[in-house]
Amino acid sequence: MANEEQSRRDFFGKALGAWAAVGGLGLLYAAKRTWDPLPSVKAAGYTTVDVSAAEENVLYTEMWRGKPVFVLKVPKNIADHPRLVDVGGEKFFIAIGLCTHLGCIPAYYPDQEKFICACHGGQFAADGEVLKSPPPSPLVIPPFKVEGKKLVLGEEGPEYKKLKAAGLVA
Ligand code: FES
Repeated sequence: MANEEQSRRDFFGKALGAWAAVGGLGLLYAAKRTWDPLPSVKAAGYTTVDVSAAEENVLYTEMWRGKPVFVLKVPKNIADHPRLVDVGGEKFFIAIGLCTHLGCIPAYYPDQEKFICACHGGQFAADGEVLKSPPPSPLVIPPFKVEGKKLVLGEEGPEYKKLKAAGLVA
């Protein structure tokens, strides 16, 4: 009887261990996917970024002409904004990842759906608008062109020209 009890306990112990290991691996896989950069190609001053695998509310940072560029597939609950761009039917926010106050790199807080600059506490919404000073203006949108599910950073496409005409790119 004691042996039966012991082997039952062993079985449940092993089952629990296996379950925890599988759960842990799943978490690591999910975290790794979040850290993976989006596939991109750099050539002659342009960076082409494939956003088809972008996950909602995860900030991706690409380098373009020595500057960080934020690419964020904005959460669906965020209200539409003229600074948001349609890429393959999804809403994206694209901006140079430098604070418009003194040039620090703001961090994105997905739980609050905003950017916070650690240097002087400036805050930006997920569409780049200033939520809290001292930044004097929204995050800057770099020249871009939409090609299907890809973004070409550095090229002025029709979507960028539209934002430019509306005075929304700087
Ligand atoms: S550099 Fe960002 S708030 Fe000052």
